[in-house]
Amino acid sequence: MARIIDGKKIAAETREDIKRRAAEFTAETGVVPGLAVIIVGENPASKVYVRNKHKACLEAGFRSDVIEMSEDTTNDELLAKIEELKADDGIHGILVQLPLPRHLDEKAVLEAIPPEKDVDAFHVVNTGKIMLGDYDFLPCTPAGVMKMLEYEKIDVTGRECVVVGRSNIVGKPMAMLLLHANGTVTVCHSKTRDLGEVTRRADILVVAIGKADFITGDMVKEGAVVIDVGMNRREDGKLTGDVDFASVEPKASAITPVPGGVGPMTITMLLENTLTAAKKKTK
Ligand code: GUN
Repeated sequence: MARIIDGKKIAAETREDIKRRAAEFTAETGVVPGLAVIIVGENPASKVYVRNKHKACLEAGFRSDVIEMSEDTTNDELLAKIEELKADDGIHGILVQLPLPRHLDEKAVLEAIPPEKDVDAFHVVNTGKIMLGDYDFLPCTPAGVMKMLEYEKIDVTGRECVVVGRSNIVGKPMAMLLLHANGTVTVCHSKTRDLGEVTRRADILVVAIGKADFITGDMVKEGAVVIDVGMNRREDGKLTGDVDFASVEPKASAITPVPGGVGPMTITMLLENTLTAAKKKTK
């Protein structure tokens, strides 16, 4: 039986701490941390994420602007909106919710956000800093995973860490943070030969591939720590992760559930980054 890592509880405690630090900062400086989130189009999952980000900001005492733009927004219109937010001194963080509609140039959009307001840490400057281990902002999901491991007193040093998935948002920066924490890190992806052979080596297994219930009990070592970053909707409408909880949980020593695992931590780290951005701008 695995210990269930309660992301909701860890997120709630961390958010209380952020709220307290933000209130102190505001009392000292008169500055309220401000986040602007741009959402383009009608992606239903994105709408839920953006609503949750907005709610979390307000609960932490932040300013939160949500900018909804229509599906047929042009690159120029979106870039003009970013320029406007760039010049707004009350906005310390700018986030463009992904995925963008296909006709938009994601790379150009992410590069248009100034690095000091890039609370997603997706800008090439911030990505490069993460590689060097010298960063202001950590990407929210991998940072949330590290925070959970820390909270659960799971030491990464010297342990076999396997990351399944190599996305720019999760897999690649996740591998880098585990490496900075002195893990021995392997990154797997769709071309990996005999995936199970590699995942069975993991003391710490982080899965971010976006395939429902993909990692099964036979792919996991007895006693492994399993972190499920996936968020998929089954045909019956239920939310599920990338890990088949029923078969993996009995083998793991600790595991994150979906929902209620990594998800709440991602937004928490976004709040942390927004507070950091506000402080850096103000000092
Ligand atoms: N879409 C899914 N996850 C994220 C995220 O962390 N940031 C942004 N901007 N879009 C996302």
